[in-house]
Amino acid sequence: MVFLNGTFIQKIKASISVMDRGFLFGDGVYEVIPVYQGKIFRLTEHLDRLQNSLDSIQITNPYSHDEWHTILTKLNSFSPELDQSLYLQITRGADTQRKHNFDTLTPTVYIEANPLTPKSKAQLKIGFSAMTREDIRWHRCDIKSTSLLANILYAQEAKQHQVEEIILFRNHEITEGATSNVFMLKDNTLFTHPTGPNILSGITRDLVISSAKACRLDIQETPFLLDDIQHADGLWISSSTREIMPITLLDNRPINQGVIHPAWSCVHDHYQQLKND
Ligand code: PDD
Repeated sequence: MVFLNGTFIQKIKASISVMDRGFLFGDGVYEVIPVYQGKIFRLTEHLDRLQNSLDSIQITNPYSHDEWHTILTKLNSFSPELDQSLYLQITRGADTQRKHNFDTLTPTVYIEANPLTPKSKAQLKIGFSAMTREDIRWHRCDIKSTSLLANILYAQEAKQHQVEEIILFRNHEITEGATSNVFMLKDNTLFTHPTGPNILSGITRDLVISSAKACRLDIQETPFLLDDIQHADGLWISSSTREIMPITLLDNRPINQGVIHPAWSCVHDHYQQLKND
């Protein structure tokens, strides 16, 4: 079952107009929200970010917090899996003709739920490889827009090179991953790019920061350089669906001689604890 414009229907029966601006222009925003043991994880934070994305592109939020909660909970109840990832998108809606500028339309709301199987600690401890690329995206990466062409090209490159993620740099500074936020550990300090127009403010990013504080790491929300990674003690990526993954090989060069720093284990365990709260 999926949710489309106020109705729960079978996915196969869900359809939208060819005039939908999401289809024509990628004119919409989205969220990916994990559900653990049947409980929606950090719903308020995700809905706050959704509100920011909607405000940035002048779409009125069609639902209140409570209405979102009711819709998402009902959609969850159709699937037997206790761990799920909810994908929700809102586009500007369907117009009568294709034009770049817009009038006020009725937004199209689509939500689907998919089973979520986070990797176990043992699977994560193997480590993952990544490669770096120049960040060619626009300067409003804080908007969680469905227009993801650059990210799609990166994701395809990652697939072709069999790496977990593409890590992006702008003017030698690491911004984020193609689908994740990035952290560098050096001398007990965890560095990550500050929030702003050049990254998506990840919900998991905030939880990594609070978990890292609990693990007595110092936090520096300041940009770090691509060259700094050569001497890093650790490199991690984070997202709602991947949680916190240690990168042990970047551009075919080992990070910290391929050894995952014990701080990752502490932050990982703390994050897992948050899921049970
Ligand atoms: N992506 N940065 C980018 C560019 C992302 O696409 C994502 C997540 C993140 C991490 O955000 P969060 O911790 O809130 O998931 C950072 C989702 C999972 C996606 O596009 O499917």
